[in-house]
Amino acid sequence: MLSPVRTLLLIGVGAGDPDFVTTQAIAALNRVDVFFVLDKPYSEAAASDLNAVRDEICTRYVRDPGYRTVTVVDPPRDRAAADYAAGVSDWRDRRAETLEDAIRAELPDGGCGGLLVWGDPCLYDSTIGVVEHIRDRGDLELDYEVIPGISSIQALAARHRLTLNRVGRGVQITSGRHLAGGLAPDVDDVVVMLDPHLACATLPDRDLDDFDIYWGAYLGTPDELLAAGPLRTVVADIARTRQDARDRKGWIMDSYLLRRRRPAG
Ligand SMILES: C[S@@+](CC[C@H](N)C(=O)[O-])C[C@H]1O[C@@H](n2cnc3c(N)ncnc32)[C@H](O)[C@@H]1O
Repeated sequence: MLSPVRTLLLIGVGAGDPDFVTTQAIAALNRVDVFFVLDKPYSEAAASDLNAVRDEICTRYVRDPGYRTVTVVDPPRDRAAADYAAGVSDWRDRRAETLEDAIRAELPDGGCGGLLVWGDPCLYDSTIGVVEHIRDRGDLELDYEVIPGISSIQALAARHRLTLNRVGRGVQITSGRHLAGGLAPDVDDVVVMLDPHLACATLPDRDLDDFDIYWGAYLGTPDELLAAGPLRTVVADIARTRQDARDRKGWIMDSYLLRRRRPAG
């Protein structure tokens, strides 16, 4: 007889504020027998703050505290790999193996596992890719569901009272690594995430003059910071603010929208 399939729930829990957790996420949290916590290579300070949010979410929303928690230690990633995509893919393979081993060992047949994903699992997050990889390997029968969450982008837009796109136009979402190459002339609205070095500060003069910035750090948390204005005028202040915050807290998570003041056409 075939053993009952294990199920994993990838639960988006929002980007900081436990009030971001949706009723769909709460229902999912209450189905979970075993939570798998991917111990990502954050600094100790970041890991402790992010774990505190995760704990508060479980304490607040899970009605029966009979669940178990299993920490899965992430294999280290080779950030110096010459081929960025190959480096990420190799890391994803090793993470998949590690998570698969933990599921096999800790989640009984027919059991329901849960992974709390920061923000939304469908945006700049590798969890779906890792689970797909486990399924592709074919050694473990695993079903999974994705529960959307409020992403940092939505939190950023709401705090600045912005619509991300302008009428009839597109909006680009990218990382600091890509922004560092400069803005294409036809890009008028761009959301930047994963930007440890505030790449917008080093854009060419033309872009510094043409764009406004809407910036937010630790969105949805008691440490939230916001700033906005013409990029050239405010970028040095933002750089100082984020450095002070990083020194004070030991880590920073920030995102921003760059908006061309007078889009062509
Ligand atoms: C690995 S991505 C995860 C994105 C996440 N899945 C989401 O939906 O927001 C991490 C990046 O998201 C952004 N981010 C996540 N949470 C944030 C927050 N509370 N405030 C500002 N930016 C945040 C930062 O740009 C950070 O570098």
